[in-house]
Amino acid sequence: MGSTLSDWEGQRRLIAKAIHHPGTLLDVGCANGLLLRCLLDWSPHPLVPYGIDPDPQRLDAARGLLPEYASHLAPIGLGELRRLSDYALPTRFDFVYWNVWDDLEFEQPWAQRYLDEALGATASRLILGFYGPSLEAIEKKLAWLRKKLGEPAGRTENLPATVVVVWWDKG
Ligand SMILES: C[S@@+](CC[C@H](N)C(=O)[O-])C[C@H]1O[C@@H](n2cnc3c(N)ncnc32)[C@H](O)[C@@H]1O
Repeated sequence: MGSTLSDWEGQRRLIAKAIHHPGTLLDVGCANGLLLRCLLDWSPHPLVPYGIDPDPQRLDAARGLLPEYASHLAPIGLGELRRLSDYALPTRFDFVYWNVWDDLEFEQPWAQRYLDEALGATASRLILGFYGPSLEAIEKKLAWLRKKLGEPAGRTENLPATVVVVWWDKG
């Protein structure tokens, strides 16, 4: 059975619950921009979207979905956020959303640098989303994150879909 747009919405809509005030939102790894486009509709708070993705073809698709924000999209990846200013983009955002890739291991030094970069770009709330592959694998990553960042300020989940979203607030 193929997955549908409504399956996708079921796996992503909960991210809007983590956005608790208006502001700027950076999607780290924004792909075709669909999540950003949807969050603008799903959140009751007005948002100004920004997206980065190292894949230029995905970014072209994002420019198609977010034409009015085309200048807010940049072909860079986590690990090179210092280049945001090359694209005249802000270096800090009220909300930073990062879908932590399934195969990322926080024990790797480069992954810890990615986390530090995402935190450094966060003015208000860092939101991390985990889409599987299993609840056990997600909880293992969360255990590591608790040691590093402390208890998350909040968590929401869709367990049948193996999606967990957690967030930490900046002091
Ligand atoms: C599964 S998509 C996530 C799309 C959207 N953010 C969401 O949560 O639905 C993951 C994206 O991360 C991008 N990506 C891979 N390496 C990256 C990096 N170092 N920094 C930022 N994005 C990266 C991929 O090109 C891909 O478009």
